[in-house]
Amino acid sequence: MSNTDLSISRNVDLADLATMHVSAKAGTLIEIHSIEDLQRAFELIKQQDAEFLILGGGSNILFVDDFDGVILNIKLKGISIIEETEDHVLLKIAAGENWHELVMYCVSQGWGGIENLALIPGKVGAAPIQNIGAYGAELSDVLVELDAWMIETQTNNTFSNAECKFGYRESVFKSHLKGKVVITSLTIRLAKNHIPNFEYGALKAVLESRGITKPSIKQVCEAVIEVRQSKLPDPNELGNNGSFFKNPVIDVFLFNELKQKYPNIPGYPVTEHQVKVPAGWLIDQAGWKGYREGDAGVHKKQALVLVNYGNATGQEMYDLSERIKQDIRKKFGIELVREVNIV
Ligand code: EPU
Repeated sequence: MSNTDLSISRNVDLADLATMHVSAKAGTLIEIHSIEDLQRAFELIKQQDAEFLILGGGSNILFVDDFDGVILNIKLKGISIIEETEDHVLLKIAAGENWHELVMYCVSQGWGGIENLALIPGKVGAAPIQNIGAYGAELSDVLVELDAWMIETQTNNTFSNAECKFGYRESVFKSHLKGKVVITSLTIRLAKNHIPNFEYGALKAVLESRGITKPSIKQVCEAVIEVRQSKLPDPNELGNNGSFFKNPVIDVFLFNELKQKYPNIPGYPVTEHQVKVPAGWLIDQAGWKGYREGDAGVHKKQALVLVNYGNATGQEMYDLSERIKQDIRKKFGIELVREVNIV
């Protein structure tokens, strides 16, 4: 099989392909428009014994260095209805579609289930990897199954929701299948008579301020957009990766100890023995909110978001995250875990 019809570029600047917008170079970048492209790309990777990396929207990746291997830029497109009944619709969406555009399309059709996930940057194929979530909803609530290309066997495989082993910002694709599959499409189930979930404090507040007590899907979506825009920077204007760290889950003993010292510390019970604490609160409390050194900083409105004011390097962003980690360990005895992948 020939590689000649693959779209291949060499020595590519990655600044515009990842939302932190730090400068880094990729040895080779291949655009993937079809399953055949994937097959050919992996033949090339095998021939050259090259390292490879799958790129979606670049919203959850930080390049601290150049990447000499092959980057596959997933551009698979297409949305199709595979089943429709009176009360639901099953949609199959190719991995290269833009997530937020999908949300807006579904909302415009009156299909409910992903309206709380508006404005999350990135592509559809990346959504299951960290089980994207916001305002009380997660992808795992609507995902029926997904198709993935198995790199070793060069075959397609379907994963049911259960087989994805979803958790909070977790899936099997982040753990033992990491680097072994390319997600090519998702199938999601959306409801036609959906009852929107707007229990999340900030959402409720926006809706109440508009006098809305029984919001439609569209109204919830608009409230989500308003809340996100008020706190989270637009990556097209200010480089960022959304939440840089996961919210840590800590032992209830430690939580109670911290509560004595910091009566306002927020915490959400996860199990009888575990409490999830907002990393944004910890980082804010430790005095980092609005911190800036050179062009690397901590967002003024949400301490969980690290921002690149223009020319910060990936290493500078990483070093800042490392200093924050150390400070939180020292001040609270809590180990923060990055949500962002470091390359
Ligand atoms: N907080 C502060 N200071 C800050 C930031 C937050 O005190 O600078 C406090 C808030 O007052 C609030 C709590 O921390 O009591 C939680 O804050 P927020 O509602 O902003 O949510 P979060 O826990 O910081 C998570 C997700 C977001 C998601 C929002 C809404 C993670 C790591 N992050 O943030 O997801 O949009 O909830 O559901 O779970 C992302 O993953 O990239 C992301 C943006």
